Amino acid sequence: MSTISKDEFKQVMGSFAAGVTVVTTIDEEGRKWGLTATAFSSLSLDPPLCLVCVDKRAGSLDALRSSRRFAVNMLCRDQEELSNHFASRSDDKFAGIDDQAGEATGCPILPGALGVAECEVVDILPGGDHEIFVGQVMATTVSEGQPLLYWRGSYGALNNATP
Ligand SMILES: Cc1cc2nc3c(=O)[nH]c(=O)nc-3n(C[C@H](O)[C@H](O)[C@H](O)COP(=O)(O)O)c2cc1C
Repeated sequence: MSTISKDEFKQVMGSFAAGVTVVTTIDEEGRKWGLTATAFSSLSLDPPLCLVCVDKRAGSLDALRSSRRFAVNMLCRDQEELSNHFASRSDDKFAGIDDQAGEATGCPILPGALGVAECEVVDILPGGDHEIFVGQVMATTVSEGQPLLYWRGSYGALNNATP
């Protein structure tokens, strides 16, 4: 039994600077879902796998489970507003968003994303109050730009990035 408090946990995890993603999917009825997520990681090169950890209370959870596909949209530094939008519980998060259907999965691809990884779900693992979605990467897109970062509860950007 851990004696670490929730605040201690949040403070130490928040010390790890993360890129910001919006994970999207589309369900059987064609409804689009998306949530902001920093708990994303590359997992394996061969086969190409990544993972995203989704809160069990997330509205998008069932759609992710049943569609068995998702797209990870890696946000660029001027997409803070988009990050907050997809972190909200609005009913139709895609109203007014000019997304496109990903070629490999049909999942929504957000305009301006720095990188996109379209994935098929190959595993869903338990992870405390989250579920870990393991995705096999089926298609990728990479664009020019700088990443949006999240660190210690605030957004930030790199100040000396060259590529
Ligand atoms: C910067 C940031 C990072 C977040 N990272 C995650 C995450 O990794 N996993 C998660 O489940 N929720 C994360 N959230 C919270 C979800 O985006 C939020 O709960 C959202 O309302 C879920 O949308 P949904 O309920 O429509 O699925 C994050 C929020 C912010 C602002």
